[in-house]
Parts: sequence; C-alpha cells; structure tokens
Amino acid sequence: MDLNKIQNLKNQALSSIIEADTKDELEQIRISYLGRKGGITNLLKEVPKLKPEERKEIGKLINEAKKVVEDGIKQQIKIILKQKENKDDKWFDVTMPGEKTNLGHLHLITLASQEIGDIFKRIGFKQVSYPEIEWDWYAFEKLNMPKNHPARDEWETFFIKGLKNKKYGGAVLTPHTSSGQIREMEKHQPPIRMLNIAKCYRRQIDTSHAPMFYQFETLVINKGINITHLKGTLDYFVKEYFGKDRKTRIRPFHFQFTEPSFEVDITCSVCGGKGCKVCKEGWVEIGGAGMVHPQVLKNGGIDPNKYTGFASGFGLERVLMMKYGIDDIRLLFNSDFRFLNQF
Ligand code: PHE
Repeated sequence: MDLNKIQNLKNQALSSIIEADTKDELEQIRISYLGRKGGITNLLKEVPKLKPEERKEIGKLINEAKKVVEDGIKQQIKIILKQKENKDDKWFDVTMPGEKTNLGHLHLITLASQEIGDIFKRIGFKQVSYPEIEWDWYAFEKLNMPKNHPARDEWETFFIKGLKNKKYGGAVLTPHTSSGQIREMEKHQPPIRMLNIAKCYRRQIDTSHAPMFYQFETLVINKGINITHLKGTLDYFVKEYFGKDRKTRIRPFHFQFTEPSFEVDITCSVCGGKGCKVCKEGWVEIGGAGMVHPQVLKNGGIDPNKYTGFASGFGLERVLMMKYGIDDIRLLFNSDFRFLNQF
C-alpha cells in the first residue's frame, strides 16, 4: 500500500475540518472519512489483505490517522461552540460610560524645566546646552577659582579619574551651570542672553540636596548692562513662576566669578513676607547672582572696558519644591506614582 495515500487522506481531512464552521458540516466530514464507506475506513478494510510483514506498520499508521481526524473533529466542535457564545455576547449597552485609559505625563522636573525655559525665552533668552562632563578649566579655573583655591570646596565636586588634558586640566561632573558662561563667551561676542538648564552633580545628600540635580543659569552681556537689569530680570522671573504677589530682594554675598555678588531671596509663600516659623524673617533664599567679574569677561575673550554683564544660577528642584510646598527632594526621584500623579 502507498504510504503517501494515508498521509494525504489525513491532511485532506484536517484541512476540511479546520474550515468547517457548523456541526453539520463536521458530521458530513466524519461520515466521508470515518463512516462505513469512508476513506479511512476503506483503507482499514484493506489491511488484512496485506503481506504479513506490512500489516503491523501500515495498520498502525492508518489507526493514527483515524485518531488524528477524530480528535480534530472534537476540537473543532469546541471552537465552533465558543464562537457561537461570543456572537451571542456581542450585545452591549452603548450608553455605558467607557473605560478610562490611564495617560502618563512628563515628569515634574521636565515640566518645570519647560516652564522656566518658556519664561526666559519670552524675554529673548536663548537656551543652550553644554557638556555634562566638564573640564576643570570651565568649571573653576576660568571662573577665577585657580587650583587649590578654597572657594572650590563649596562645590563638593565629583572628579573623574584618568581623564586629563594638558591645557584644560582634569575632568569633573559639572558641579554648576556657571561652567557654561565661558563656553558661551568663547562661542560669540555680545550681545549674549543665555539660558542654560542642565544637570549638575555634587557630593551631597539630605532632604533638600541630591547628588544629581538641575540648575538654571542666566548670562546677559552687552554694553551698559547693570544691576537694575539683573534685578528686573529676577523680579520678572519670580512673578511669572511663583505669582504676581511675590517680591524679590538681593543680598550681598561672595562668588569668585561675579563682582558684586548676591544671594537672591523671595518673599515666603506661607506668611507672604511678614515672618513665620518656616522663613523666620519673611524671606527665603532661591539662588546666587551677580555682575560678571571683569576678569571672567576677559577669560571668555570679551573686552570688559566695552561690555558688562550679569549672571544668575538657581536650583531647579529648589524653586519647584518652593512653588508646590514639597519638603523632601527625594520625592522627585523616587518614581512613586501616588506622588507624581498629583501634577
Ligand atoms: N554657580 C553658583 C552656584 O552654583 C550660582 C551663581 C550663578 C552665582 C551665577 C552667581 C552667578 O552656587
């Protein structure tokens, strides 16, 4: 007997079983293969006529084919019943409210960065970005903090081992956005209105400091720039970001790269400037600022006899936390949806 014949018959049976979509059709298929005169039954009838040595093997093959077809039919009946059930279920109430899809949103820090970017762009600032891994040269040296200068300690820097340049010195993780000042000056002559929002790194960690955080830095250089321009820009930013009723003050301070230097305070959101438990005397500090030091202008290739400038640098998380009354910076980095979904 031809073995292919058994195989072909089985395959034919299976393909018509799969295509059947009623029980009646399946019954017809069963009869034509497994009924009294069915194809597979006929083959079985021939087995006794075979040579004894063929009988066992061929008989086994035909019986297997029979079993496969029987199982196929059973399975297809189940499928047909299931489809019928689903069809009966198709009815639905069009007036039922739909299921709400959960939509994500940008992270709080990204949103703040965009908002702050927009505020400064409205008054002509151009947003730039500079390296996150920076040379000592730009982070300190050219900002009037030569090697071993004690002022550097304030920046609690992460140093990168094994990366050194003859001219630029060692490499660090940018400890402040001020490192963009010299890079910006080297790129072009005034007028400059730079906004640099970037990741910074320092060896610090507590409820208000994280080792990685963001700062946003302004740098304005042109003819005749003076402190009133700085104060006006700070006032504008604070009113746009925190609200019209907020006031700004600048307080004498010291930075190596600005002269004079200031710390910037805004009126406390809790007491509105009267003084309370949170702020003590009505003001809270938001960052540093000052008039660009003439030596720093020179270092950046700009003539300090022709041009003057101001710069400011604030912690992005700090202003964000003040705006929403968040008291632990770690909430911003923990990816806890119960917290993040509020924004
Ligand atoms: N870079 C300073 C800091 O990180 C802030 C600053 C920026 C001060 C610009 C003056 C001018 O503390």
